[in-house]
Amino acid sequence: MSKVVVFDHPLIQHKLAIMRDKNTGVKEFRELLEEISMLMIFEVTRDLETEEVEVETPITTCKCRKLAGRKLAVVPILRAGLGMVDGVINMVPAAKVGHIGLYRDPETLEPVEYYCKLPADCTEREIVVVDPMLATGGSASAAIRFIKQRGCSHIRLVNLIAAPEGVQRMQEDHPDVDIFIAALDDHLNEHGYIVPGLGDAGDRLFGTK
Ligand code: PRP
Ligand code: URA
Repeated sequence: MSKVVVFDHPLIQHKLAIMRDKNTGVKEFRELLEEISMLMIFEVTRDLETEEVEVETPITTCKCRKLAGRKLAVVPILRAGLGMVDGVINMVPAAKVGHIGLYRDPETLEPVEYYCKLPADCTEREIVVVDPMLATGGSASAAIRFIKQRGCSHIRLVNLIAAPEGVQRMQEDHPDVDIFIAALDDHLNEHGYIVPGLGDAGDRLFGTK
């Protein structure tokens, strides 16, 4: 069974409260999503391997630690996942970026794939899939299925807000993928929106409604 980590840090909770507010505009919503992504990736990467290196300071030499092992690839689920990429890259500038295009059919709520481009060496990387919303879990589950079909096996998922239904779907479909979220909300409404949630993340991020 995968682990689910909920970030209850006051800074993250404060920023998320502003994002949920229907009166928060596009500019602030975008900035806050980037800031929260930056704070979340700090903990998401806590278990990355390091190795001892010797560094010569202006005073003497000392033993330090640097990242070793698998490098990162961040894979946003289009569109709304794009809003989390800069936050990750600010913290991990060497990360490569893949893209998966999915939209949720408004009638069936099933994900429809329209784009997939991953780094050539993605099988050797730690893959961090990002998307602000985990609702039914259909989009994240399909995205991760496509990533696995391309040979990747070290994958983690980062969402801002999850519904219990999405977490359950992910844990059934991908028990090997740990899930990192800022909030576990109450339920989905009849249109598949997270309650209380923040509305349509893509529309709020890009101002398309
Ligand atoms: C949203 C969100 C997720 C998906 C979550 O994207 O960004 O990708 O819905 O819903 P699910 O867990 O039920 O699949 P949407 O389909 O609205 O596309 P967009 O990002 O292009 O607006
Ligand atoms: N997608 C969103 O953008 N918001 C939701 O609440 C559910 C799916």
